[in-house]
Amino acid sequence: MWLAAAAPSLARRLLFLGPPPPSLLLLLLSRSSRRRRRLHSLGLAAMPEKRPFERLPADVSPINYSLCLKPDLLDFTFEGKLEAAAQVRQATNQIVMNCADIDIITASYAPEGDEEIHATGFNYQNEDEKVTLSFPSTLQTGTGTLKIDFVGELNDKMKGFYRSKYTTPSGEVRYAAVTQFEATDARRAFPCWDEPAIKATFDISLVVPKDRVALSNMNIIDRKPYPDDENLVEVKFARTPVMSTYLVAFVVGEYDFVETRSKDGVCVRVYTPVGKAEQGKFALEVAAKTLPFYKDYFNVPYPLPKIDLIAIADFAAGAMENWGLVTYRETALLIDPKNSCSSSRQWVALVVGHELAHQWFGNLVTMEWWTHLWLNEGFASWIEYLCVDHCFPEYDIWTQFVSADYTRAQELDALDNSHPIEVSVGHPSEVDEIFDAISYSKGASVIRMLHDYIGDKDFKKGMNMYLTKFQQKNAATEDLWESLENASGKPIAAVMNTWTKQMGFPLIYVEAEQVEDDRLLRLSQKKFCASGPYVGEDYPQWMVPITISTSEDANQAKLKILMDKPEMNVVLKNVKPDQWVKLNLGTVGFYRTQYSSSMLESLLPGIRDLSLPPVDRLGLQNDLFSLLHKQADMQEEKNRIERVLGATLLPDLIQKVLTFALSVSYNENCF
Ligand code: BES
Ligand code: ZN
Repeated sequence: MWLAAAAPSLARRLLFLGPPPPSLLLLLLSRSSRRRRRLHSLGLAAMPEKRPFERLPADVSPINYSLCLKPDLLDFTFEGKLEAAAQVRQATNQIVMNCADIDIITASYAPEGDEEIHATGFNYQNEDEKVTLSFPSTLQTGTGTLKIDFVGELNDKMKGFYRSKYTTPSGEVRYAAVTQFEATDARRAFPCWDEPAIKATFDISLVVPKDRVALSNMNIIDRKPYPDDENLVEVKFARTPVMSTYLVAFVVGEYDFVETRSKDGVCVRVYTPVGKAEQGKFALEVAAKTLPFYKDYFNVPYPLPKIDLIAIADFAAGAMENWGLVTYRETALLIDPKNSCSSSRQWVALVVGHELAHQWFGNLVTMEWWTHLWLNEGFASWIEYLCVDHCFPEYDIWTQFVSADYTRAQELDALDNSHPIEVSVGHPSEVDEIFDAISYSKGASVIRMLHDYIGDKDFKKGMNMYLTKFQQKNAATEDLWESLENASGKPIAAVMNTWTKQMGFPLIYVEAEQVEDDRLLRLSQKKFCASGPYVGEDYPQWMVPITISTSEDANQAKLKILMDKPEMNVVLKNVKPDQWVKLNLGTVGFYRTQYSSSMLESLLPGIRDLSLPPVDRLGLQNDLFSLLHKQADMQEEKNRIERVLGATLLPDLIQKVLTFALSVSYNENCF
């Protein structure tokens, strides 16, 4: 039961560092950096001035894109034909679309049942990645067909429609054609309305050499010889559901695959380089377990008939959640059954869990604008752990969440140059900047705290309400808060705004007094800063869900409160004088705790006899490390810890506390 004191109304690049080094300390450090994405955090002060930016006009919008692409894997060019069913909402004589590095050859618009009107001008606004098609007469309101013929380059920039180099088993160098559209690069493959809120259906066909694999979001519905060239075939894919352009994908190349059907009837394939199909088996097992997990969790079925996961030789991100055709860097998908270590398997399981979560959260319901990208990524970065914990409980994956994402997010967010999770985004060039460890790891950490505050049952209920209400549409962060608020009756928006709209997090100072059979706790909160005690003039405050456990049951919260003011007193009933009291069960709350010296001292036996759970010890150790490092007068605490740990001569107390906590954790195999 949660008690409110007063009712308040890399690129996120994957650095896979290989097997951990032998030393315990290095072990911890290497693990916490394994999931490091972007290595920088945004300094708002240092941010360049925002470029003026206008979204696409709403007078003409797409209903269905019928798109045929013919890549040339030797010349690195492609030809494209687009026939878009469009709706003119307001009479106009021009159509503005996104377009970059593409040459339009002809364009025309035919109102339904009427004559074609040929565009007389294509005005490229290169800076804005837009093109304005001008027509000699007014396009009246109603539906019609926009036809555009165009050519482009299969570029080597790993974005848009690009070429990916691979070597055949016989040593020959060849190229595949691959897409990466998020955030704003679909416009490099075909002229389109390249904004997440402008959804439409897609009929895609590819003209490819007949010995190549051709894949797209949907299943193949037709494959026939290409009339002009007997070496080519035209592959036609089924119509997609209504979706955003950044989730469209196609791949043409040489691949092997392994295949299964998940228990809910979805055809799952993992595509690997030729000769390496064995290495796709682990990801296939993960995907087949993961799909039913999400179907159950969200209580919404996976909406496509198939899902392909494919390893791409040249890939900028770690993985990309294109609907029905998820692309991965090879190290994030392939497992060599003979030579891989368990941490590689865990990583693959997390990446698959992450991208498949997006098939619902992101693809079925899509953020209205890039400002809400943190929610997309933060949510997937949290639920990937929930999913892996469900499918592979033996991994003890939440301990890794704390030692990697949570710890890293706190380290970065305690710096003066951190930034709020939610950053307003204007020009597309700003989008890439916000894919950093704050949006991913702090985002995931605050969703984890929220899930714990709400409780799994109501959280699931709220997720189902949100996904059902907004399916095939777009939503903003506030929409999710509203659904969760309706499901739980708790003040979700008020709580979450304090975590997403301001940077940093609190340090909770706590001291205790025994009053007869009860323990009185005095709590206060203050912003935590890595550089030393916070001395700012404003008083940032958070609404902090706090759990409190005691040695009576170290695995169960005795009390849950919502700290919604700077200071609070809490009474813990029936706590004997010899019992310890600890905050932040499971290290779920995104705050640090500073205990009074007597509370801290009383906790040390709980570390020594291992009655404190491993993630609690890890959290305690993190907090101690950061507090001993820079915070105010902790001399007394240092002395006490030194005494309790029974050490005599070690000059570096931090090292000692760390080593002690690590050895205790290690003995219990929690890492
Ligand atoms: N949507 C992102 C991929 C992405 C990131 C596209 C940045 C464009 C720019 C995807 O869901 C993602 O988060 N990928 C992660 C790997 C994931 C397992 C954490 C990545 O690429 O690091
Ligand atoms: Zn993601």
